[in-house]
Amino acid sequence: FAEKYLQGQHWVVTAGPTREAIDPVRYISNHSSGKMGYAIAHAALRAGAKVTLISGPVTIKPPSGCDIINVISAEDMHQQALLHAKQCTTFVACAAVADYRVAEVAAEKIKKTTENMQIELVKNHDIVADVAQLKNKPFMVGFAAETQNIEQYARGKLMRKNLDLIAANDVAKAGQGFNSDDNALTLFSAIDKTDLPLTSKQNIAKQLVSLINQHYQAKHTQ
Ligand code: PMT
Repeated sequence: FAEKYLQGQHWVVTAGPTREAIDPVRYISNHSSGKMGYAIAHAALRAGAKVTLISGPVTIKPPSGCDIINVISAEDMHQQALLHAKQCTTFVACAAVADYRVAEVAAEKIKKTTENMQIELVKNHDIVADVAQLKNKPFMVGFAAETQNIEQYARGKLMRKNLDLIAANDVAKAGQGFNSDDNALTLFSAIDKTDLPLTSKQNIAKQLVSLINQHYQAKHTQ
């Protein structure tokens, strides 16, 4: 990173999973390790950006030099994202946010008394879509973790959530996506697409950060 090409930019990156409590000892979550989002934060820092990393619970260390905001639930992440996105130039939503939370979290540990049980879930706020509604919205980059119809679903999210770019992640393939050390992505804008073939999350993050900046510059010099 000889060239600090992101000097003067402020990136907010969300990373990791969220946890939705069921009772004091149980939760609903997913397999996100935070590796992809942390690699993006690291690459943006190395390129000279100020970076705020909003992270769900993970076991890896944040890159030194970023402002780390630790959160647990999707609603916590939503609150912090809206707060910090107001000042940033670029928002990258790499977190695997729970779409639903438990309607009523039990105050005490739920006892095993019935053969069947049902837990009612209610929809969480969509963080990236809500940041994209801000008056001075930053340059918006989402991810789409898909197991089928990747391009169609990713393009649907790009439009519906009002994003500038979306990185589609095929999470059905072994050796990439959730919790692996490597990844492959396809970056979609409204008019084009770029394939980033399988490589380490560190490498793909470097390529992605540079590509995001190219699109950002193109938008801001129009
Ligand atoms: O953390 P790793 O183990 O390294 O794995 C990386 C990853 C697979 C988690 C990552 O590459 C990835 O694909 N992240 C997006 C995961 C996801 O939940 O995607 P989605 O298609 O469900 O969501 C679409 C977009 O909306 C994402 O940018 C997501 O952050 C955002 N979202 C979703 C729901 C919600 N309530 N708020 C959101 O902001």
